[in-house]
Amino acid sequence: MSSARDMNSLGKAQDVETRIGSLLEVMSIEEKVGQLNQVQCTGPNVVEDLAHGIRSGRVGSVINVVDPDAINAMQHIAIHESRHGIPLLIGRDVIHGFKTVAPLPLGQAASWNPGLVRECARVSAQEATAYGINWTFAPMIDIARDPRWGRVAESLGEDPFLASALGAAMVVGFQESANGEADTLIACAKHFAGYGASEAGRDYNTTNLPLNEMRNVYLPPFKAAREAGVATFMTSFSDIDGIPATASDFLLDEVLRQEWGFDGAVVSDWDAIHQLCVHGLCENDVEATYLAARAGVDIDMISGVYERHIPELVASERLPMERLDTLVGNVLRVKIQAGLMDRDVTVLPEEPARMSGLALVREAAAQSLVLLRNENAVLPLEATRLDRLAVIGPLADEPAEQLGTWVFDGDPARSVTPLAALHAMLEGEVEIDHVRALETTRSRDRSQFDAAFAAAQSADMAIFFIGEEAILSGEAHSRADITLPGVQADLVRHVRGAGKPVIGVILAGRPLAMGDIADQFDALIYAWHPGSMGGPAIADTLFGRCVPSGKLPVSFPTMSGQVPIYYAHKQTGRPATPETVIHIDDIPSGAEQTSLGMTTFHLDAGYLPLYPFGFGLSYTTFDYADLSIDRHHVPLGGRVVVEASITNTGDRAGTEIVQLYVRDRFGSLTRPVRELKGFERIHLEPGQSHRVRFELHTDELAFYGRDGAFAAEPGDFDVWVAPSSVGGLHTHFAITA
Ligand code: NOJ
Repeated sequence: MSSARDMNSLGKAQDVETRIGSLLEVMSIEEKVGQLNQVQCTGPNVVEDLAHGIRSGRVGSVINVVDPDAINAMQHIAIHESRHGIPLLIGRDVIHGFKTVAPLPLGQAASWNPGLVRECARVSAQEATAYGINWTFAPMIDIARDPRWGRVAESLGEDPFLASALGAAMVVGFQESANGEADTLIACAKHFAGYGASEAGRDYNTTNLPLNEMRNVYLPPFKAAREAGVATFMTSFSDIDGIPATASDFLLDEVLRQEWGFDGAVVSDWDAIHQLCVHGLCENDVEATYLAARAGVDIDMISGVYERHIPELVASERLPMERLDTLVGNVLRVKIQAGLMDRDVTVLPEEPARMSGLALVREAAAQSLVLLRNENAVLPLEATRLDRLAVIGPLADEPAEQLGTWVFDGDPARSVTPLAALHAMLEGEVEIDHVRALETTRSRDRSQFDAAFAAAQSADMAIFFIGEEAILSGEAHSRADITLPGVQADLVRHVRGAGKPVIGVILAGRPLAMGDIADQFDALIYAWHPGSMGGPAIADTLFGRCVPSGKLPVSFPTMSGQVPIYYAHKQTGRPATPETVIHIDDIPSGAEQTSLGMTTFHLDAGYLPLYPFGFGLSYTTFDYADLSIDRHHVPLGGRVVVEASITNTGDRAGTEIVQLYVRDRFGSLTRPVRELKGFERIHLEPGQSHRVRFELHTDELAFYGRDGAFAAEPGDFDVWVAPSSVGGLHTHFAITA
């Protein structure tokens, strides 16, 4: 139809930048702005409604259309009826699955298994691209240290090292291709940056993030995503130090473009450019447009302000044409590099086989389960020793709830619930008495408590499936009190009175504060929202067909008021010790103010989490011994090798996640008491030993110090090889100048 389109196909042989340049030469301002314009369409006639905009080149990207026929029709218009034939980016939040749903990202993080996380992302990509979707808004790699924040569910936890490894794996899984790029799903590192620090864990709230914290804690996963080749970034909604991220020259230009050399596209979050006015950064959309375009937001997600105001800003020369060309070039580069301009995007890859996806997410669910408690080795259960099980709680049989937040397209019909899986597994062997007991996790109706009690009394044991429904976490769903909602804890206490062993399986999108209830369970499994195949994974684990191996990617508070509580905290000038802590109930009458410890702790909660980061039990036990370090002095630029022997001392095979931590004892800025620097999953048969080896280069100990430079500093370091962020084998070394 147009010479430009011919040039576009000629361009296959040209290099990417030449192709971009050639296109920019022939595009009108409106067509350029069109590439920056992402639209949504909520009406029933999507194609009809958007056809004109696409045909005239005023739409570069569409969000939330999932009907493959509609997508193909729109792409057809873009390719064959618009002047330059540039295909559309089709965006959708495919966060932890499309039709087949893997555990929540936070649950996947509990596997500490980048390979598995990558494979889950791959399945999402294959399923979504079969519908014509070519861009996902994942991974979310915001560091989440405040579980009141509902989006902790979508995060990879509290630790920069773990989130970096897993986030990078997701990027690769989404973007790689087994199919000539047709099944590449463009990834998006979000939310750049600092969103996880929303004050009080309230979504969208202001963040107060010192540069030191931003640089050393919040930015590293984004840098890792960049290094893994992520094609797009999304700005955060939040206000950082007075500048909302969507207008932050520091983040979008200085860090992302200049320091990290990112040449892909940056999309705003939903309506976030317009919201610069709501923040109070500017008075109107013209100004908001200017600020975002200047800072480096390439794509306007649905606010429409770029389309309305960029032309006038360019006409008045306030926004130079070169700036506009840079933004458009970034978008075109993504389209070219993802292969969208070089193949017929209306030829969709085939949907992958359902069974293999389900098998994968079942494995992922099994690896995401964290065994928090197992008194007297009550687990695993043996069917031959049981006659009757009481299965209690509102989440035992909820196919949609177990999928968790962010599953626009997840198919609950693919879910197998814990109740269904237990029935299938125990058919004819063990009777199951299911008492829902509470309509929802929030319910306060105690009328079924006695029925639950009776069921437990006439069973060998009670298994609770409780926690939070999907709607209690995720975007905009933050909670101030993160204990078990409603009267679930009372239900557990009530049933406990029946005198039978009580097993808790908690399904939730966040770490719940269970300090007042955890010890009521003989065994406790944290299942997060485990996805489509959560039921079989849980049943397999309860009955020992799977041995739990998950470890916590976040610290679990004792009570809500303790948060944020995370392992990599600073030492403070008055660190707490067990000896200095006093509980509110133990304060003697007339006690002097200065007799109360004078260290950093809560009178009612102490200073320790209920379960620390990195913690998780197994059905077997692992012994850590023979720590060695190859040198105690290492010059800057050198490396140390730390080794330890891990032995399976139990009578079952199992997988242990061995963790490497360091502490930089003295720095130009104070440093965390521990930082994760490595981990390895090892599978050991009973009695088997394995020597883990961690090589640590001094560059891996670098941080942004007092002078703002990124460097390792000479001085003393502690190092631990440990089963969690607490304890482990310890040694030390020094970096010499
Ligand atoms: C808002 C959310 O913050 C973001 O994570 C998501 O990708 C966009 N909406 C698009 O749905």
